[in-house]
Amino acid sequence: MAVGIFDSGLGGLTVWDAVSKQLPDVPLVYFGDNAHAPYGVRDADDVYNLTCAAVERLWDAGCDLVILACNTASAAALRRMQESWIPRDKRVLGVFVPLIEAMTERQWGDNSPPREVGVRHVALFATPSTVASRAFQRELAFRAIGVDVEAQACGGLVDAIEDGDMILAEALVRGHVDALKRKMPEPDAAILGCTHYPLMQEVFQAALGGDVQVYSQANLVAASLSDYLKRHPNMLGKGQDTMFLTTGDPRKVSDRATQFLRRRVEFISA
Ligand code: DGL
Repeated sequence: MAVGIFDSGLGGLTVWDAVSKQLPDVPLVYFGDNAHAPYGVRDADDVYNLTCAAVERLWDAGCDLVILACNTASAAALRRMQESWIPRDKRVLGVFVPLIEAMTERQWGDNSPPREVGVRHVALFATPSTVASRAFQRELAFRAIGVDVEAQACGGLVDAIEDGDMILAEALVRGHVDALKRKMPEPDAAILGCTHYPLMQEVFQAALGGDVQVYSQANLVAASLSDYLKRHPNMLGKGQDTMFLTTGDPRKVSDRATQFLRRRVEFISA
């Protein structure tokens, strides 16, 4: 009855952590493509091919349903995968929609026309590739009108987090928030549009100021998955075991993951 969770590296563990708390009885198979992170500077074909390879590995591990806990893959590859690649008996879901639904005060599957919502000025922090895709703006435009989005491509931040260089990561967050504020001095909400960034959430919040509501995906995705599985219990796959797979060095990745999650996590080679 396993579900797969995929990310280019460690960031998807923020989603894994929330899902494991929300659905403690569901075995989760995590796949971190650490050998190929960051995805955010790769072109769309490259992200598509790497993401498909990872998802196939998760299907082999008995997960019929895979969550792309990676905005870059959700932006650059998911639509193409859904249109032409995913077999009928499998599902691959992304991480944008639950967040946009929360921000636009919608329930799951509410497809009514776009309307005015509580937020007006939204700061989006994401990888260069996610920002270039404009996928957030597209999903938002389906649901809301009158929302001004200013995007900041946070170059270097995923690399610093993957390397465990938190001093550099903090400096980069402050620099990217400053750059955003020069373009939009008073955002009323901020989206952490990369699953690595919640690992720096306190630094983002401090740099943005206490009045800015910061949206991050982990809990929203976990709640949405729980709801999805109630409606589609047949999508729980055959897998029975919780596992952590990586294309990187399992020992190094396990140490970083343990540091971030504050509980021991053992990765094995994918
Ligand atoms: N966690 C991925 C995301 O949500 C990071 C992408 C990357 O590897 O650059 O976008």
